[in-house]
Amino acid sequence: MVGKCVLVVDDNPASRVFLVNHLRQKQFGVLEAPTGKEGLIMAWRDHPDLILFDPALRDIPDQEFISKLRNDPRTGQTPLVALSTDSSLARRETCLNAGVNEYLVKSAGALLALEETFTRMFAAEHPTDIPVQIEETKEEGKNGLLIVFLSAKGGTGTSSLCANLAMNIQQGQPEARVVVADLVLPIGSIGQIVGEQGKVNLVTVSDLPAGQTNSDYFYQNLPKPKIWQFQVLAGSPDPQQANNIKGERIGQIVDTLCSAYDFVILDIGRALSRISLPLIQKADMILLVASTDQSTVQLTKTVWDYLRTQGIDSRKICAILNRAVGLDGLTKTQAEEIIGLPIKTTMPYMGSNFALANNLNQPITLKYPTDTASIILKETATDMVKLAQRLRG
Ligand SMILES: Nc1ncnc2c1ncn2[C@@H]1O[C@H](COP(=O)(O)OP(=O)(O)OP(=O)(O)O)[C@@H](O)[C@H]1O
Ligand SMILES: [Mg+2]
Repeated sequence: MVGKCVLVVDDNPASRVFLVNHLRQKQFGVLEAPTGKEGLIMAWRDHPDLILFDPALRDIPDQEFISKLRNDPRTGQTPLVALSTDSSLARRETCLNAGVNEYLVKSAGALLALEETFTRMFAAEHPTDIPVQIEETKEEGKNGLLIVFLSAKGGTGTSSLCANLAMNIQQGQPEARVVVADLVLPIGSIGQIVGEQGKVNLVTVSDLPAGQTNSDYFYQNLPKPKIWQFQVLAGSPDPQQANNIKGERIGQIVDTLCSAYDFVILDIGRALSRISLPLIQKADMILLVASTDQSTVQLTKTVWDYLRTQGIDSRKICAILNRAVGLDGLTKTQAEEIIGLPIKTTMPYMGSNFALANNLNQPITLKYPTDTASIILKETATDMVKLAQRLRG
């Protein structure tokens, strides 16, 4: 990377000088422009290897600046990196749609993100002449609330509740960044519930080197199904691919998600494994989902007894009794007595309506807004967040 020429376009003098000095220290050749118009002239005249710019330029709208560069043969292929004070999704999307390669936000972790971006971009150009980054770097950034959903038995409604509660959290806090990650092996189901079975999933992400799956990678590549509003990291699409997941990457991925999102919501399903236990121990809140049949409630007690031996604080557990299997079964009090935990929420049996919403990839709250279940979901989401924040102190 040494010797590459970077053009910095930023009309904020303090920010521009800071970036120019930083890049010079890193042995880049640096050109600087204090306005968008001068930036365009220098870009076309001096052919920099990369253009770094703040999209909030006073003299040219961001979209116009980008498309002028993109539509000119001299800069059509030049890597464009936006470094902005604006973290809004709208600005990010405008810039990415107009043709920037990366959109980074000016923050504590920005220099590190910038370095990774440069490494990646110049590596793509000249695969052999950059040093390989072996050391793994934990990004600075947010310290998002980690919420995990698990159950003692399959079919208790864990994944559906995970997606639906996440949607309610996001709806209650539209500004927050919420991500749902499906860690259930060997096949995830969150993608199916929210109608998103794209190219990016747990397998594809864990296949990439850690240095590449940074905050920006997730912001830009994880799909955001419109009506659900959160971003989703779908699970393994089939058992064959699940076998190839590198277990040690899961912890790194979750760490990065926590540094990039305000709420990281994991579906762990019924897996209490070497991989999931550390995540449960790290979680701010654990949603333990049980259905009302005797055997599930008994197994839930077994799971809770085990978690207690692993040092899990009972205040972090939010037990949900979900009538997933019909109207019969144990009452809330009976279940509480067996499990030895207070039940925070009881979800009513919704008959085929629940499956219908799932099959249509719709959130319950939107499909049946006046149903008791919708009200309960909303209240539970609010209570969960309050409790998790309080426990964080
Ligand atoms: N309260 C409810 N009323 C009616 N049906 C429900 C309710 N909760 C869940 N279901 C149904 O139960 C089934 C299982 O739900 P889901 O896939 O969310 O459970 P899970 O615990 O994640 O299962 P798995 O073990 O397969 O991961 C779905 O068909 C769902 O529609
Ligand atoms: Mg599930």
